[in-house]
Amino acid sequence: MVVLGIESSCDETAAAVVRDGRETLSNVIASQAEVHARYGGVVPEIASRKHIEAIVPVILQAMEDARLTLADIEGVAVTRGPGLIGSLLVGLSTAKALAFARRLPLIGVNHLEGHVASIFLTDSFPAFPFIALVVSGGHTTLYLAEGFRRFAVIGQTKDDAAGEAFDKAAKLLDLGYPGGVVIDRLAKNGNRDALSFPRGMKGSLDFSFSGLKTSLLMRLKKRGSPFAPEELPDVVASYQEAIIDVLVEKTLRAAALHSVFRVVVCGGVAANSRLRERFRGDAARSGIDVFIPPPVLCTDNAAMIAAVGDHLLQEGQRDGLDLNAVSRWPLA
Ligand code: KG4
Ligand code: ZN
Repeated sequence: MVVLGIESSCDETAAAVVRDGRETLSNVIASQAEVHARYGGVVPEIASRKHIEAIVPVILQAMEDARLTLADIEGVAVTRGPGLIGSLLVGLSTAKALAFARRLPLIGVNHLEGHVASIFLTDSFPAFPFIALVVSGGHTTLYLAEGFRRFAVIGQTKDDAAGEAFDKAAKLLDLGYPGGVVIDRLAKNGNRDALSFPRGMKGSLDFSFSGLKTSLLMRLKKRGSPFAPEELPDVVASYQEAIIDVLVEKTLRAAALHSVFRVVVCGGVAANSRLRERFRGDAARSGIDVFIPPPVLCTDNAAMIAAVGDHLLQEGQRDGLDLNAVSRWPLA
């Protein structure tokens, strides 16, 4: 079926048209990052207003790119949560209005399940069961995925998410927002062994990144002055490697522990070039197949929401027009 996906959980307004949960006919993303950059993070009230401005043009663009009209759409899938409630409501209200006006089935989708399903939009994806690492600005969780809506948590962060660790470091170093992209780029010219940073919660499948951020803060305080521009590549390369080390090691260990030798890595941080390189290299050595979507499907998008929506709608699941947004919605 042809599903229109709508995503507005954070600071990206996105709409996409996906056929049969596999084929992306269009994937439009309007980022607000520039607007929030001056505040060093997402300002929820501004995010909601920007979503309102962008949502209709973004949907129209998605229809145009897919070379379809609303008459061709057979279902509407929308992110119901988790996320910023004011932001979610913009996408949800728009989806409901469309479903009501066009008499289309509506389905609310979990954003985290969307990240996992982004792999089904690529040519290379695993069969269930697999281990999924969802690593984004708000989440760092390891799941044993046995099917759609059948996830078990096998490890998760006890404090900050990995994306937050990137964003907070960028803020401390005055590198701008969103931090992950800037650090990824700067780290390419740095020495990963220049500075030593802690690797949290060794032995466990849970994560902790707050000590890492504190360690950077303490270094800055001890120096009494910001790092010089020529020092920054080494600092961020070492910091980034500390995050990636634990993500790769724990994910591959989880696969071995559960005897599930297929791993999906998804969410915004999975766009990181060094993370992708490390996963590919280490997994090959340990005989585990690693599947990572292309960067554009790692960061927030609506194609992944349509992919989950297609599956649920095919199963006959439907939501009513009384569907509400939820800021917290664990996958398991
Ligand atoms: O999945 P996402 O777009 O939104 C959430 O659901 O949170 O993830 C956003 C997070 C941000 O923390 C951002 O800094 C991080 O993903 N990110 C990256 C990269 N691109 C985005 N982190 C590291 N390297 C990147 N290239
Ligand atoms: Zn996300």
